[in-house]
Amino acid sequence: MKSTRRLFAICISLAILSAIIVGLQIRTATANANQPADPVFALLDNEPDAGKVETARFTGRQAQQGTPAEPTIGENKRHTNIQLLKDYPDSQLIPMMNLINASLGVQCNFCHVFKEGRLEPALDDKPEKKTAREMITMTLAINKANFNGRSEVSCFTCHRGRNNPVGVPALPLPEPAPRQGRGPGGGQGGQAPGGGATATAPQVTADDVLNKYVTALGGQAAIDKLKTRVMKGTYTTGPNTINLEIDQSGADKIHVIFVSPQGTMERAVNGTAGWEKNQRGVSDLGGAQLAELKTNFALFRDLRLKEQFSRMTVRKEKLDGKEVNVIAGASAGGKRERLYFDAETGLLLRRISLLQTPIGVVPEQTDYEDYRDVDGVKIPFVVKTAGVDGFWTGTRKFTEIKINAALDDAAFNKPAAGAPTPAKP
Ligand code: HEC
Ligand code: HEC
Repeated sequence: MKSTRRLFAICISLAILSAIIVGLQIRTATANANQPADPVFALLDNEPDAGKVETARFTGRQAQQGTPAEPTIGENKRHTNIQLLKDYPDSQLIPMMNLINASLGVQCNFCHVFKEGRLEPALDDKPEKKTAREMITMTLAINKANFNGRSEVSCFTCHRGRNNPVGVPALPLPEPAPRQGRGPGGGQGGQAPGGGATATAPQVTADDVLNKYVTALGGQAAIDKLKTRVMKGTYTTGPNTINLEIDQSGADKIHVIFVSPQGTMERAVNGTAGWEKNQRGVSDLGGAQLAELKTNFALFRDLRLKEQFSRMTVRKEKLDGKEVNVIAGASAGGKRERLYFDAETGLLLRRISLLQTPIGVVPEQTDYEDYRDVDGVKIPFVVKTAGVDGFWTGTRKFTEIKINAALDDAAFNKPAAGAPTPAKP
């Protein structure tokens, strides 16, 4: 009985503490990606340049302008049994595994052995893992032979959220949907003869949209005055709600603290090095977890957008009945992103990131709500995140946000192993 309770407690804390094992505990509550009508995929399908951005090319280690080449999966000594994916960036391993989970509608233990509450991903005991290797080989080969190496075909293309893809149409066939009127000249519609511009409304540029956003936030001067931010509130994922504190200083010092009844987990980066602290001790943070922390929790992530993007285009759309201006652009790390701005208020409502991996595109979506003024800067007090990783699918609700409080830089440095976790209220 006691040992069951202990095991339970370990499971729960691991669920909160480790993005790897978490998948198993919490993902059960999150929908799998069995939705062909998913807006992200619809968006991809409609995108004229879907998969055709240069960054979508996978030739092993990716050259990204400005950023030093990151270690590959094969170079990470922790991965002892990588045969096919070793030449791809280390930060993409777990996103790819999450994509596999979502594509097949399974969890990590479908292919990997789980021993004493721990995933042993390097073991090859399960036949499903062998099949998965064959499938990875096949998917890479399809893309190489047919799509010039772009990740057009993914596990999801065939699997659609099930481990056994359906290859035969079910009878009777559904009633065909009424066809959209195809005028003479057919197809896409709206294209003026001669291919001239068809803009009827005055054209907004990406600069206009971003400038309006900066004004809506409180102006460039207010943003430039930002030095630190402390945000306290809760994070709800599946059935679990835990306390959350995010401390940010400058562009690259981040400290995130999750407090659950089972314990505290901290993740931080002091500008360069990342670390994690939980009941088991202190460890270095790398790969996807560090990348996730740096991109998604940086102070200026949503405040300084212009500098993050190249090749921006704008189009008008509707989002939940609202007029929105959608900026499409490419950001660092081979991501294509979409930014949805409320046409009226100018505020950012949604951000979608599409990470190109060799076995498919990994989508991530963030929604921003309840903007309030905090000392002259508008900040969303509700942030909803969704992705193929169950742990990062949830809602952050802030109850308190302070800007420019004095923060001790030392708190972002890796603590000495064994130091007790400071009690957080
Ligand atoms: C459908 C099968 C499948 C599922 C589900 C799956 N994996 Fe994997 N995983 C693989 C295969 C195959 C490899 C080896 C790839 C290679 O050899 O290049 C692998 C490799 C790994 C590795 C590297 C192993 C090493 O050498 O250290 C880790 C870590 C990993 N997976 C974690 C996960 C996690 C976490 C999940 C759940 C989020 C998951 N996997 C889900 C098939 C799967
Ligand atoms: C071109 C279509 C296609 C793609 C792409 C594809 N699969 Fe499959 N996969 C199939 C089919 C079809 C089956 C069923 C084969 C059978 O029943 O013998 C299958 C079966 C599997 C199985 C065995 C399932 C079980 O119940 O044992 C695994 C595991 C798997 N695929 C993993 C993957 C992974 C991982 C990817 C992406 C890297 C992937 N597949 C991409 C078509 C595909």
